[in-house]
Amino acid sequence: MQFRNIQLPASQTGVDFGMELVGCDLENLTEEQFKEIEKAVYTHQVLVIRDQGHVSPETQYKLTKKFDPEVDTYGHGTSHQSKKSVIARDLSPLPGVPQVQLLGHGTVHNHHGIEERKLNHPSHRSFHQTQLSEEDEKAGKTRFYRWHMDAALYELNPPLITTLFAVQTPEHRRELVVYDDGSDQSMDVQLGTTAFISGAHAFDILSPEMKDLAFRTQVKYAAHPYLWISKARAHSTGLGIVSEGRELPKEELPPIKEEAIKIYPMLWKNPVTGKIHLQVHPCAVEDLIIDGKPVGDLNKVRELLYKIQRPAINPENVLAHEWENGDMVIFHNRGVLHSVVGSLRDDDKRVYHQCNLASAKEPQAPSEEDRKPYILAH
Ligand SMILES: [Fe+2]
Repeated sequence: MQFRNIQLPASQTGVDFGMELVGCDLENLTEEQFKEIEKAVYTHQVLVIRDQGHVSPETQYKLTKKFDPEVDTYGHGTSHQSKKSVIARDLSPLPGVPQVQLLGHGTVHNHHGIEERKLNHPSHRSFHQTQLSEEDEKAGKTRFYRWHMDAALYELNPPLITTLFAVQTPEHRRELVVYDDGSDQSMDVQLGTTAFISGAHAFDILSPEMKDLAFRTQVKYAAHPYLWISKARAHSTGLGIVSEGRELPKEELPPIKEEAIKIYPMLWKNPVTGKIHLQVHPCAVEDLIIDGKPVGDLNKVRELLYKIQRPAINPENVLAHEWENGDMVIFHNRGVLHSVVGSLRDDDKRVYHQCNLASAKEPQAPSEEDRKPYILAH
C-alpha cells in the first residue's frame, strides 16, 4: 500500500487535507492495513482508495463497520425513508445489505437485488431558493447542492465515517460551480464531483473573536430536522437555509421525544490528531446556545452561523474530488462537511454506493485545556 498526495490545482491553497491510497485491495485487507487506513482517515479527513471496482456491497459494509464495530444502524436509521424527508429523495437501500445505499443518476437494472430503479442526482433546483437559468446549466454552470455531514441529528449520533464508492461515474466533462451570492466566486470541477471542506481548516481561519465564541457555543438541532425543512429553501451556496418561515410547525411533525433532540458543541475534537474542528450541519440547526443561553431567534441564529461558516467554503478551501470508476472514498464524517455537486442531464449515468453507521458515541468536545490558548479577555 502506498499513500500519495492528491494532485490539486495551485489555486487550492486552503486544502490542507485529503490523501490517496494505491496498491491496496479492500477485498483482502489485513488487520494491519486496516489500522493504517483508519489512522489515515482521521489524519487526512478524506482518503481516496483507487482501483476498487471489484468490491462488493458486503465488503463495503464490513469495512464501514470496522471503524465502529458496536453499531449496525444506517446513519439515518429508517427516518430517511419517510417520503417527505429531504433525504428520502436521494437514497435507496440495497435489499441484501440495507446499510448500503444506492444513489446516483439514471436507470439501473438488476443491481444487487434491485430489479429496476430510476435514480436522480440531487440538484439545486429542488432545494435552493433561486435557480440557475436553463441556459446557464446547459453552458455547464452548476452549484453546491447542500453542505452537510451525514447524520440524522435526532435520536441518532452522527456516523464517524462514511464510505462512498463509485461504481460508475458520468462523463468527465467540466462544470463551473457558481456561488451566486454576489461574491463572484466560482470553481472549475468535474461533473458529479463530491466537494469537501475541512472542519479543522474552517476553525483555523476563524478570527480570534469567532474562535472564542465557537468554544462557548452549543448547537441545538431541530426535532425531525429533514421533515422540519422539507418545504424550506437553501442559499445559493448550498450552505444552510434561507429564513422565510417555511419550516414545518411542530403539529405537522411526528411526535417529538425531548430526549431525542441533539445538542452538540460547535467544536469537535479529532480523536487522532487532537485538532479542533468546526462541525455544524447548518440546514438542521434550530438554535445556538451561547454561554448557556439560547439565542431563540432562528433568523439571527442562521445569520451568525452563516458568517462563521461561509469563509470555509471559499473556492480555495474546497477539495473537489475527481472521481474515477472504482474509487472508494472514506471520509471522516465528523471532521469535514461535504456537498453533492453537478447538473446531470437525462442521459448522464452515475451509480454509487454509500454506507455509514450511526455511532453510539457522542462527538468529543474539546477540553478546557484545548480551549485555553483561544480564550479572550472579556
Ligand atoms: Fe452526504
